Amino acid sequence: MKKSRIGVLTGGGDCAGLNPALKWVVKTAMDERLESERGVRHEVLGIHDGWKGLAEVDPANWDGTGHITPLNPDIVRTWDRYGGTMLGTSRFSPYDPKNECSGLVADNIRKMGFEAIVVLGGDGTLAIAARMAKEGINVIGIPKTIDKDLPETDYTLGFETALNVIVEEVDRLRTTAGSHKRIFVIETMGRTAGWLALEGGEACGAYIILIPEHDFSIKRVNELVMEGRRSGTRYEIIIVAEGAKPVGRREIVKKKGTDSFGRKDLGGVGELVALEIEKGTEIETRSVVLSHLQRGGAPCAYDRRMGRYFGIAAVDLIVNRRFGRMVSFKNGKITSVPLADIYGRLSRVDPDTQYDVDRYNGRRTILRSGK
Ligand code: F6P
Repeated sequence: MKKSRIGVLTGGGDCAGLNPALKWVVKTAMDERLESERGVRHEVLGIHDGWKGLAEVDPANWDGTGHITPLNPDIVRTWDRYGGTMLGTSRFSPYDPKNECSGLVADNIRKMGFEAIVVLGGDGTLAIAARMAKEGINVIGIPKTIDKDLPETDYTLGFETALNVIVEEVDRLRTTAGSHKRIFVIETMGRTAGWLALEGGEACGAYIILIPEHDFSIKRVNELVMEGRRSGTRYEIIIVAEGAKPVGRREIVKKKGTDSFGRKDLGGVGELVALEIEKGTEIETRSVVLSHLQRGGAPCAYDRRMGRYFGIAAVDLIVNRRFGRMVSFKNGKITSVPLADIYGRLSRVDPDTQYDVDRYNGRRTILRSGK
């Protein structure tokens, strides 16, 4: 029977849902029943630490070096129950101008005889996959990121689990906020996209939600808070995305500079908003940064299911030799899109239709007239 070697890697920030997808890539590729139907026997090698593993591996001597692990259905049997990534990850880019090594990575892929590489990643990792595809490497992308900011897909692995974390943590904060009649400002992740803050805030019933797509006025935030108090509220939950910023200001960053993908290290806006509210309203205000808690924990049912479907679909694309594509969930269906279509683009909240710019919250109209 014809043999085919597939590589699989996870790159960028980890999240829940990666391990279920890895499990189903392996199970589908190595399914004996499907082997005879396809006339191909697949071997799956797990590549450690994202693209870094392919830059550092010695293609003539990879076994036992920690860069590559042969996978099989027995090894991955229980993986879908766990968060993070069993393969490890990194924010390494072979196209980083400070350490350009894309030629070496492409050579290593060829020398190791990979028929295709399945890449689980967000915008940075999949942009690399898109460029590798242009250079003639057979790649398939699987979308993952708690930011849900990849275009051409309605879902990215990790998002629902992160939303569940936001809801659980806010439920905890509500009791202490209510007991002390305090305001709590909760900073969520998401980079320049407001999906996590908006949908997390909607799910937990936040009083105010601040997103990067609409600069907020602190005066308006304070007005809304005072309006709430006048109507008898004991406490307020305010969700602020790490990329949100007050009108006329830049994003708040933890440290200067950018990563190997040119992205800022966002963080700190929650504390700023809390200070401004306390100053403007004289109501005791605390801030909490949820940070990497949103990326941790076991995948929720939805991420296990979507990981499964995305993993299976990635192998279907390989079997049908439809390379250079990303599996996608669109309009309720699993499908695929060219990686070239997602390159350099981000999906962000549309404040005109998905946000209430007056009350800084989720939209109040869903079905417009005639729909
Ligand atoms: O892209 C996922 C994400 O969690 C962002 O929401 C956040 O800004 C960033 O990664 C944090 O990155 P790191 O794990 O490198 O601190």
